[in-house]
Amino acid sequence: MQVFLITGGAGFIGANFVAHLLDTYPDYRVVVYDKLTYAGNLDNLRAVWENPRFSFVQGDICDRPHVEQVVKEHGVDTIVNFAAETHVDRSILNPDAFIQTNVYGTYVLLEVTKDLGLERFHQVSTDEVYGDIPPGYRSREDDPLRPRSPYSAAKASGDLLTLSYFTTYQVPVTITRASNNVGPYQHLEKVVPLFTTNALEDKPLPVYGDGRQMRDYMWVGDHCRAIDVVLHKGTLGEVYNVGTGQEIENLTMVRIVLDTLGKPHSLVQFVEDRPGHDRRYAMDIQKIRALGWEPRYTPQEAVAKAVRWYVENEWWWRPIKEGEFQDYYRRLYGQRKVYRTGLE
Ligand code: NAD
Ligand code: DAU
Repeated sequence: MQVFLITGGAGFIGANFVAHLLDTYPDYRVVVYDKLTYAGNLDNLRAVWENPRFSFVQGDICDRPHVEQVVKEHGVDTIVNFAAETHVDRSILNPDAFIQTNVYGTYVLLEVTKDLGLERFHQVSTDEVYGDIPPGYRSREDDPLRPRSPYSAAKASGDLLTLSYFTTYQVPVTITRASNNVGPYQHLEKVVPLFTTNALEDKPLPVYGDGRQMRDYMWVGDHCRAIDVVLHKGTLGEVYNVGTGQEIENLTMVRIVLDTLGKPHSLVQFVEDRPGHDRRYAMDIQKIRALGWEPRYTPQEAVAKAVRWYVENEWWWRPIKEGEFQDYYRRLYGQRKVYRTGLE
């Protein structure tokens, strides 16, 4: 394992993982392969751009001849697949690209891994594939998949294809299923960067429904270390859950955002809920703990740390907020009913 194709490496988690690999392993080379959709951003790769062990290729994981050509040209032996359409709300507005990239794109990468005899294909997946989890229960890796949004259904399909290539063709695969990541370079459509930047501009924070949904907010660096551990110590054909093992209500997350910034709770607006909104995700993380991995941050610490990054890095988020994002924001939030404002 020495030459990595990091698909989706210009996105949030992919870019953090690229920096992690180059910093941790002085002999590894990294090729980022990214379509640069609205979510891809070369600013995310500024810190590694001049590194002689780094290269960037713009391309679509659905384009098999191109992926194959890049893998051969760079002598890639390992693919880590971050490339995906990732935002649940956008999957509700228009699922098409989700099916293309998250299902067909994953299939293309598996085919290339099989036909070129690569050492490893790692699929970066999500806790959302388990669906809505009742209070008191934690998902385990062999639980049935019950995805409930077009996004999570497409990701679950990617997971099942990945496992089928292990069983049928003995392709060397591993999968990680992570909880909600937070940290540097997360797109402003996701809740923590959205709420932080809205609060910094004294704009309302649109909390869906009653805000009592539960999420396991994890620091992105913890996720990157987990993928690293699974690549080096994981068992082929296996799935590993990755999270802090604790979850907090969105209302708690909102309080942390506002209190970290010293902004008033009156900025909160309770708005019409997301259709099919999963109330709770919660995972059992014993399996990855057994490989020697531990999260370093609790959800509370991770959210506060992420908020501070956005405060210090306006150069990064300001151009996004002023671009096509404004149309998206109007489309998603413009007509949404507002039920009440402020936290008790
Ligand atoms: P992101 O939306 O920030 O980035 C996705 C990247 O993929 C972008 O750079 C985009 O340009 C690229 N991309 C999209 N379609 C492509 C295509 N067809 N070909 C090549 N590149 C393409 O996403 P993220 O939040 O960094 O998530 C990365 C991965 O981690 C995804 O697979 C996601 O499902 C998974 N995941 C994310 C989270 C989270 O909290 N963000 C949690 C668990 C799992
Ligand atoms: O759980 C892992 C998943 O986390 C990843 O697989 C996805 O790619 C990633 O987008 C994320 O999905 P969520 O839907 O959980 O993330 P999002 O940031 O969109 O929302 C987090 C919670 O906040 C969720 O309960 C919905 C709520 N929310 C979100 C937005 C954007 C709001 O209340 N208001 C909002 O405006």
